[in-house]
Amino acid sequence: MAAFFNTELEKKNRCPFDMDTFEGYIAMDTENYGSGTHELHEGLVLKTDGVVDEPEIPSLKPAVTASLKSYRALSNTIMTALSLSLGKDPDYLASLHKDRGTANSSTSMRVNYYPPVPSTVAEGTTRFGAHRDYSTLSFIVQDNTGGLQVQDTEGSWLDVNPIPGTIILLAGEFFVSYSGDKFIAPLHRVIISAEELQRSVPRITTNYFVHADHQVPFKLLDSSSTEKSMTVKEYLSSRIMQALNKSTKE
Ligand SMILES: [Fe+2]
Repeated sequence: MAAFFNTELEKKNRCPFDMDTFEGYIAMDTENYGSGTHELHEGLVLKTDGVVDEPEIPSLKPAVTASLKSYRALSNTIMTALSLSLGKDPDYLASLHKDRGTANSSTSMRVNYYPPVPSTVAEGTTRFGAHRDYSTLSFIVQDNTGGLQVQDTEGSWLDVNPIPGTIILLAGEFFVSYSGDKFIAPLHRVIISAEELQRSVPRITTNYFVHADHQVPFKLLDSSSTEKSMTVKEYLSSRIMQALNKSTKE
């Protein structure tokens, strides 16, 4: 994956992030999760291996194909277990996510590239500002540097220290709805640790976001605590636009 991010910007921009399909390359400074400061990251969002048909990086497509296949198998197992834990049929969650891998679903792998931290960096600069994921489930594979933090119920930030060979599973906002509020979608962020400032080397993390099919209804409370209903695709569009708009205003 590093080979993709190391290519020229012009080549990476051959597959820019598409607001209709929700996949493609997200360049530096094109999105912001509300930290109020610079968020040092690039991203590549992939629903299928079709987006990255880059002949100059022949290893890329097989790696994406294999990763998507493995994540999908893992998510199937987890969704069955979570359905049973909710007292539902084993295929309860699978039935809301049956279009994964098609244009009717935004389930995707996102590769995050964190460039080296410049020697002069504004105080408070982050990788990702605090946010809740707008997914059903998020699988996160950190590298060995860390930087991911989750807020506890008291409002304190806790380090999610990397453990080799493990995958972090977060509930997203959709799962709060589908679980009848039995789960919470935790606020989380990615900071630049003191260790990372010292090392100043690029690094990569990978996420797999499981989203319900686009037409599945989703209920949420708005700022005046009134229940609103919209489709998964409508909600995803509004949240992604929010992140992109924050970037253009800063
Ligand atoms: Fe997140």
